[in-house]
Amino acid sequence: MLKTVVSGLKPTGELHIGNYLGAVKQLVELQKKNLRRLYFIADYHSLTIPYSPKEKRGEIMGMAIDAMAAGLDPKKSIIFLQSHVPAHNNLAWILSTLTSTGQLNRMVEYKEKVQEGRVPNAGLFGYPILMAADVLIYDADFVPVGEDQRQHLELTRDIAQLFNKRFGKTLTEPEALHNQTPRIMSLNDPKKKMSKSIPAGCLFLSDPPDIVHRKIASAQTDSHKTIGYDPRKRPGVSNLLSIYSGISGRPINELVKKFRNSGYAEFKKALAEEIIKFLKPIQQRRKKLLQNKAGVMRTLEAGTKTANRIAEKKLADVKRAAGLI
Ligand code: TYM
Repeated sequence: MLKTVVSGLKPTGELHIGNYLGAVKQLVELQKKNLRRLYFIADYHSLTIPYSPKEKRGEIMGMAIDAMAAGLDPKKSIIFLQSHVPAHNNLAWILSTLTSTGQLNRMVEYKEKVQEGRVPNAGLFGYPILMAADVLIYDADFVPVGEDQRQHLELTRDIAQLFNKRFGKTLTEPEALHNQTPRIMSLNDPKKKMSKSIPAGCLFLSDPPDIVHRKIASAQTDSHKTIGYDPRKRPGVSNLLSIYSGISGRPINELVKKFRNSGYAEFKKALAEEIIKFLKPIQQRRKKLLQNKAGVMRTLEAGTKTANRIAEKKLADVKRAAGLI
């Protein structure tokens, strides 16, 4: 039996370099291995923050296009829409009865959102339960995600353990996979993570060259004279080095050596050019996909069909174990 990889991307705005370096890059690389892969657009999760129904459809399609342009390949992976696979939510309900409100209250992402001033809805509170269901419904062995999702994956394991203890071994405990760039920081505030909720600090995969130059040139650094890597004391420049290393594959210490005697302006110009080079093929694929939305929709429908087949079977196992059928 092949091992299974599952991960999701939330369609709130466009894909940024943090999403890419934290998760998507791994999702693409894992396509070279002999694994079963299910990658989905987490449209239900995206409803937990205020949205416009008119824009939502475009955001869902846009995220699917961004993900495929970045390298998710429907020939190698099952790519689908979460909200079109009802078993995710059916399982989420069952799991919610095994999750304490105390556990949910400890979730850092939830607390951060509330601190930002969001009026918490029950969906935002229960967000990690739906996430657990997304993963457990496919018996995922591996879940590639950024650092910000680590706690949610730990909760997923706890829920799976509790289910298995109560109802007999039914669910697989997944392992989170984090890569070398699990937390990319905001360009204009490197103490915060790069997030679609602060678009000004994001570098989007669709950004044209002049915007890339402008965003990198104005990225916050420090007053040191040399380029150096120290995420705690020098978060700005360290973040830029991580981005450089993540997209070029060159180790950070090699980059530090190369730019040690350069000023920030020279380093930033080289980084912006490296980013532009990296984004070019992605943007070309994106342009083509944007002209073929009907084709993208067909791909998602085919993926959704396969996902439904797998998920329905698992849901039946879970219901049987829980005494529902
Ligand atoms: P989303 O869309 O917010 O983020 C998508 C992926 O990008 C990672 N990420 C980052 N990595 C590094 N640096 C950053 N600044 C950064 N910002 C985001 C996220 O960790 C994520 O891996 N809850 C998920 C969506 C989801 C999901 C799932 C993921 C729903 N169900 C089941 C895995 C499994 C999320 O926040 O996506």
